[in-house]
Amino acid sequence: MREALAARGIRQVAGVLLDIGVSSPQLETPERGFSFARDGPLDMRMDTTRGETAAQWLNRADEKEIREVIWRHGEERFAKSIAAAIVATRLREPFRTTRQLAEVVGRAVRTREPGQHPATRTFQAVRIFINQELEELEVTLPQAAALLEPGGRLAVVSFHSLEDRMVKNFIRERSTADKLPRGVPVRAAELPLPELRAVGKVIKPSEEEVRRNPRSRSAKLRVAEKN
Ligand SMILES: C[S@@+](CC[C@H](N)C(=O)[O-])C[C@H]1O[C@@H](n2cnc3c(N)ncnc32)[C@H](O)[C@@H]1O
Repeated sequence: MREALAARGIRQVAGVLLDIGVSSPQLETPERGFSFARDGPLDMRMDTTRGETAAQWLNRADEKEIREVIWRHGEERFAKSIAAAIVATRLREPFRTTRQLAEVVGRAVRTREPGQHPATRTFQAVRIFINQELEELEVTLPQAAALLEPGGRLAVVSFHSLEDRMVKNFIRERSTADKLPRGVPVRAAELPLPELRAVGKVIKPSEEEVRRNPRSRSAKLRVAEKN
């Protein structure tokens, strides 16, 4: 972000809005391979010009790595049985399609969360891993804050707890004044202001919005202002 703006001679901005994660066109286009609901090549890359597809990774990664990714990025409690099923399946036939993965995961998940496809968490986990989404967010947030002019605002819309936790912690850390060692004779007013100020509480979609747009149900908007 910083280089892209500097290349346009822009050093500071009044606001940064990050609407992160996967987009509806990506979910709805079977060829992009993001969805367990539409059969297509098991790709999941947001940028198809680089990196390994989900199929390539699932066909070579070891069981432990697959289990950890599904557990850490999907918070999926059946990560162990899913990883074992993936490794057992690929010995017979390598993964190529989203339906193949959805069916293998569906059989490995013993109890289902109401209203949720059993492969939801695994698909989210593999997607986050293949696109390094959390690592990207970790690099992006400090850059965005640094680019803001005083009074400028950072607004981030996230769609699952892992992302939201990172945004929440980032804003809290950057909104907390440095602690001075005990006994240093400095008045609070003389302390340097922290980089950011959290603006209001987290904003969630209204019931009416969720009815109108079910995809918004897990969305959270957090806002911070540059001091
Ligand atoms: C939630 S969608 C945005 C949807 C869009 N704001 C809209 O309302 O239609 C997030 C988009 O960000 C893109 N994206 C994901 N990671 C990115 C990154 N590190 N840098 C730039 N774009 C990224 C994704 O490919 C996706 O198209």
